[in-house]
Amino acid sequence: MALYSEKVMDHFMNPRNVGIIEDADGVGEVGNAKCGDIMKMYLKIDDDVITDVKFETFGCASAIASSSMATELIKGQKLEDAMKLTNKAVAEALDGLPDYKMHCSVLAEEAIQAAIDDYKNKK
Ligand code: FES
Repeated sequence: MALYSEKVMDHFMNPRNVGIIEDADGVGEVGNAKCGDIMKMYLKIDDDVITDVKFETFGCASAIASSSMATELIKGQKLEDAMKLTNKAVAEALDGLPDYKMHCSVLAEEAIQAAIDDYKNKK
């Protein structure tokens, strides 16, 4: 069996929503304690709805694919729903990640939460 699902490969090779939002309403940066990789998430929020999202990462293929999928999942969502997004849900949407790569998907979840916290703190 291939190590990565087709969806993981697709999101790794063609990541969605990579970049920076200059006038972001919330920015979250987190590091992965296991590997030292870094993830930065930018959110544009209007009336408690995420209208745009972009990310930058110094992460592995799984982190890139997870972030790409996570940004697609939360775009257009209400903040309260985006807050509930778990790394497990992201991994499932990618048709699974190898067990020893699950920690990479945590980066996306934590970066989104940090960006939402940043937005709330600024309000
Ligand atoms: Fe660091 Fe995957 S090995 S995020």
